[in-house]
Amino acid sequence: MSQDTSKLNAAKEAVKYVENGMLVGLGTGSTAKIAVDLIGQKLSESFQIIGMPTSIQTKKQAESLGIELIDIDEADIIDIAIDGADEVAPDLSLIKGLGGALLREKKVENKAKQLIIIVDETKLVGKLGEGYLPVEVSIEEHESVRKDIMKLGCNAELRTESNKLPFVTDNKNYIYHCKFDNGIDNPKELDRNLMNIKGVVDTGLFIDMTTKVVVGTPKGTKILD
Ligand code: A5P
Repeated sequence: MSQDTSKLNAAKEAVKYVENGMLVGLGTGSTAKIAVDLIGQKLSESFQIIGMPTSIQTKKQAESLGIELIDIDEADIIDIAIDGADEVAPDLSLIKGLGGALLREKKVENKAKQLIIIVDETKLVGKLGEGYLPVEVSIEEHESVRKDIMKLGCNAELRTESNKLPFVTDNKNYIYHCKFDNGIDNPKELDRNLMNIKGVVDTGLFIDMTTKVVVGTPKGTKILD
């Protein structure tokens, strides 16, 4: 319950940065969903934005709220993006993608002049890699990719649905959940090494992208920037 209030507080604060006429990257996940709802509620004759959704799920939500949308390829630069995260390190590097939308999230958020991350306090970590790092991989090569990923020192498990079939992303790829026993010592280097593996499409490491993290608490917010 207090986690819900924290998420709501973070989303409310982040939406204050959205101005009339902006091109806005719309994130995915339970916290971003609240922000998208709040943006929908703010729409009026004098407040209109154009959204760029980061997933099919967010696209559907935004459409139902009457938010005008453009596709990922229709703009190279967007004013702001608001999204959740799975882990936030002290230097504001992130792990994202446990919601399964990391590839589009990274594409959209790389275009953003400001990336505002909204989380509750449970997402703050001393070092990335406390939980899983999602890595999106092409279906055709996924078995060999798994072996190569594991050579980087982690255990990699294919993400599956409750029916045990592999989870397929919006981009028709699979996701491996990678777990490093002692966390991730050098996220930048790991990202580079992962991206060098043939068949890896993208990783959940979001480094040097975040402008501001709004941490929601049961009573308000804290800003990290
Ligand atoms: C979606 O793919 C993810 O990157 C989410 O942004 C992340 O998992 C945070 O989701 P919650 O806000 O639901 O924790």
